[in-house]
Formats: sequence, structure tokens, C-alpha cells
Amino acid sequence: MIAPSILAADFARLADEAAAVGGPPGSGADWLHVDVMDAHFVPNLTLGLPVVESLIRATTIPLDCHLMIDDPDRWAVGYAEAGAHNVTVHVEAARDPVALAADLRAAGARAGLSVKPGTPLEPYLETLRHYDTLLVMSVEPGFGGQSFMPEVLEKVRSARRMVDTGHLTLLVEIDGGINADTIEAAAEAGVDCFVAGSAVYGADDPARAVQALRDRVVK
Ligand code: DX5
Ligand code: ZN
Repeated sequence: MIAPSILAADFARLADEAAAVGGPPGSGADWLHVDVMDAHFVPNLTLGLPVVESLIRATTIPLDCHLMIDDPDRWAVGYAEAGAHNVTVHVEAARDPVALAADLRAAGARAGLSVKPGTPLEPYLETLRHYDTLLVMSVEPGFGGQSFMPEVLEKVRSARRMVDTGHLTLLVEIDGGINADTIEAAAEAGVDCFVAGSAVYGADDPARAVQALRDRVVK
């Protein structure tokens, strides 16, 4: 799956930017990745629930909301209630991630848990059983356009082993520095869903950029 990140899009034209990566199944974006940053959990500030609510009305692409915010226990369910398809919170910020996953699912969303590059998976293996998506950050969260950190691939491999040997349905997603040069290594490590911001919206033709990324990993 390919999830273009609108962080690299023109925020004044979000509906058009979403349409620019749309397309028939297997060709356009599978999810649209929306980076919510609060200038507390990460140093940057982006957008919040009102913009997400508008975007849900403006596109049929399922929204993948990545909440880089403090106190997700308080705020995340609102995104699920608004109709986001997948709502991801950071394990470093959540107080009670197991209860939060249940609340997100009860509100109709997939529940996602994200780990920063330096956060190990081992303490959270039981917690992950309650989640639908694991988002492995391959840059320090906060900004688009950074370089992919290959050292996180080991974490992806161990997540893949955990999913396969445990027969889990957890989807492994990667976020940060994914482009035509890095996507194959991520795919080989076992990623299911690839977030790409600048590689898609920095291209002259975002739809073709999505297709080009997909072509690299679909053999
Ligand atoms: C970074 C965000 C990413 C960002 C990726 O904190 O979580 O989703 O948009 O941008 P690129 O693909 O440019 O690294
Ligand atoms: Zn993100």
C-alpha cells in the first residue's frame, strides 16, 4: 500500500492535492497520510481536527491520521469519530495505549501505534496485540524531506517476524524518507504500507510518482 503524505502538499489546495493522487484500486493512493503535529510532542505545528473533518468530506481516499501530539488519550478518538480510517498515536505519548486502541476501534477506526526511531518494540509486544497498524518512523518525527534511517530496518524485520509467527493481522507501515531509492529495502524488510511525502508531492506528477513507487515493490 502507498500512503502519500499531504505534509508535502499545498495546504491551500488540499482537496485538489488529494485528487491528484487518487485513482482506481491498485493504481492510486491506498491511504492519504495526514500528519497532525502540535508543537509539543514534536517541534513543528501543522493542522488539527477541523482540517481533517473538511478533508474527509473532500476525498474518498481513506485518511491515515498520524498524531504527533501530546495527550493522544484525550484527542485521538475525535479523529476516529470524524471518520478517519486509521488513527495512529505515538507510544511515547500515550498514557494507556491498550484502552486507547479499544476506544479508537469502538469509534470505527483502525488503531495505529507509532514508534520513533529510537524506541524499541520489545516493551510493547503485548500492547501491539490490541492494534491494527504499527507505524515505524524512519526519521525523527516533525518534518518532511529528511533522509531515511536504514538502522530502523532491523525493527521492521522483527515486527514482520512477530506478525508472521504470531499470525497477527497487524499491518506494518513505514514513514520518513521513503522514495524510489529506499522503498525496496523497506519492502524487503517486510513493510506493508509506505508513507511518502516529498517523493510524491515534490514530483511534477504526483499520481505517476505513486505508481513509480508501487512499481518498485510490486514484482
Ligand atoms: C514526519 C512525518 C512524515 C512526513 C514524511 O514527521 O510523519 O509523514 O510527511 O515526509 P517524507 O516522505 O518527505 O520524509
Ligand atoms: Zn507521518
